[in-house]
Amino acid sequence: MSLRLYIWQRLTAALMAPLVLVHVAVIFNASRKGLTAADILGRTRGSIMWASFYGAFVAAVAIHASIGLRTVLIEWSPVGERPAAMFSIAFGLLLLMLGLRAVAAVVLP
Ligand code: HEM
Repeated sequence: MSLRLYIWQRLTAALMAPLVLVHVAVIFNASRKGLTAADILGRTRGSIMWASFYGAFVAAVAIHASIGLRTVLIEWSPVGERPAAMFSIAFGLLLLMLGLRAVAAVVLP
């Protein structure tokens, strides 16, 4: 794998680790306070903070997973580097699209 992809995968992994911890803490907090879906949407709608938090999360996952998938495909399937890269980029873009759509659903008014 090229050094650049290796660095991006490690950087996104390092970014996701704290994001996962904060996300779990947020879930515990919401359950502890017994928040309803309406309460939660009331807090997330229009919030630049939550839009950036989950937007960064989605971007990191899309980059990280597509680089990882490329490696797995090259090592474990008969496809060559180029088709593996094309498929992984398409998969990453799909993750990005679905993820940003989910973020938009909770932060847009
Ligand atoms: C907190 C979240 C995560 C952390 C800390 C993390 C960390 C890592 C690390 C350290 C590697 C090894 C990189 C290397 O050896 O070059 C890796 C590989 C990988 N990760 Fe993640 N990861 C996370 C989430 C995810 C998610 C959500 C996905 C998929 C949706 C994913 C898919 C992969 C794949 C496919 C590989 C490649 C495995 C390989 O090269 O054999 N990871 N991850």
